Amino acid sequence: MTKRFHLGWFTPFGTTGWNDPLSQSEEPWDGQFYVDMAKTLERACFDLIMLEDSLCISEVHGGSMETYLRHGLMAPKNDPAPLAALIGAATKHLGVVSTLSTLAYAPFALARLAATLDHISHGRFGWNIVTTAAEASAHNFGLEELPPRQQRYDMADEYVALVRALFDSWEPGAVVRDHPTNTYADYRKVHAINFEGKYFSCKGPLNTVRCPQGRPAFLQAGGSPRGRRFAATHADCIVAFADGIAGMKAYRDDVRALAAAAGRDPDTIKVLFLIAPVLGATMQEALARDERDYGSDAFVEGALALFGSLTDIDFSGYDLDAELPYMTTNGEQGVLDKFGQWGSRKTLRQLARDSGTSSSIRLVGTPDSVADEMGAVMEEVGGDGFLIITPLMRVTRRYIGEVTQGLVPALQRRGLVRTEYTRTTLRETLLEF
Ligand SMILES: Cc1cc2nc3c(=O)[nH]c(=O)nc-3n(C[C@H](O)[C@H](O)[C@H](O)COP(=O)(O)O)c2cc1C
Repeated sequence: MTKRFHLGWFTPFGTTGWNDPLSQSEEPWDGQFYVDMAKTLERACFDLIMLEDSLCISEVHGGSMETYLRHGLMAPKNDPAPLAALIGAATKHLGVVSTLSTLAYAPFALARLAATLDHISHGRFGWNIVTTAAEASAHNFGLEELPPRQQRYDMADEYVALVRALFDSWEPGAVVRDHPTNTYADYRKVHAINFEGKYFSCKGPLNTVRCPQGRPAFLQAGGSPRGRRFAATHADCIVAFADGIAGMKAYRDDVRALAAAAGRDPDTIKVLFLIAPVLGATMQEALARDERDYGSDAFVEGALALFGSLTDIDFSGYDLDAELPYMTTNGEQGVLDKFGQWGSRKTLRQLARDSGTSSSIRLVGTPDSVADEMGAVMEEVGGDGFLIITPLMRVTRRYIGEVTQGLVPALQRRGLVRTEYTRTTLRETLLEF
């Protein structure tokens, strides 16, 4: 029997395809575009929608906000947590994942918010754990500088231990609703946590009832060795931007080995890879769209600005037609390594063209040809699925339709993805196969 894989979609609560020639409508900022999108993904049996977040308007590219605002890249952008609540209330089966940064929330506030979202979604909430890697975001939260990566993840380890303790501060069965004794909750089953760490402390307990999943599903996207160790230690689902089939396989093998070393069963962790399929009714049409959408100077500029903000590197001063020298960063090192393709001798323009789509592998073709490729890639990589992203994170209703009504049925006909939901919670859905 064909091994099935999981599908998710990654999107910010941001600008939609406002400058797409076939989709120019300005969507209102009430979140309904994404609620409609989530319902459509649910009809197509996606496992989850994952909401991106960032916490600043970058000035990395050219030392100014200009490029970011001109392209609508990092702003306007709304907070994903209220959107997760709207989506959770409007769907029944789809996993709803929101990015929440350990920089932005005190652990107690985050645990309470995440538990509430798990209640609203009846056990379908997932937390994308990010430490935030942008210097400018640190300045928005009163820090003079972003802590180095090692320390960010040390702090995040402690943070996760604290919120896990908070999620467990209400034992199962603590709510008794006993009418004769007029008892709502049994105080013997609700516990202070008295957490005293190096970076965080909290008395607890949480003042929300234990959430349906006990704790939300944890998602993470560590790219650096330290980040991968963090992901392998905590995540139920790891999402990654990898370099081709070899890069995907190496990444998955690595995080699975790290998970085993941390005493976990690697089969309980699903690794999803970012892809941005370009679809057409014919191969020629798909190739023409790829060239039109991602070959332009405007796209190259947007891609360099976006990757600049992720990696905290200003690419604007480098020659577009020369090789990019090797670099490291305190920003997202994994993204920089994938972007830079060190040793490939490609020019900066080619790198922007290649990586700007944020696709771990180039997928351009008809629904049937792309479905075949996705199946072949998963067979070689060993699992576990894909996370769809739209380049520069501009999504349109038209593209959502192409994926859900073109690509997904082609995958379903091949037995590669689910055709129904059989489980209740997001963690169970992820573990189904
Ligand atoms: C698919 C994917 C989604 C991510 N989503 C976010 C996000 O929404 N917000 C954020 O600040 N970082 C996000 N990140 C960044 C990761 O949390 C992480 O910092 C990055 O992969 C680099 O790894 P490192 O921190 O180990 O260097 C994402 C990364 C990937 C690959």
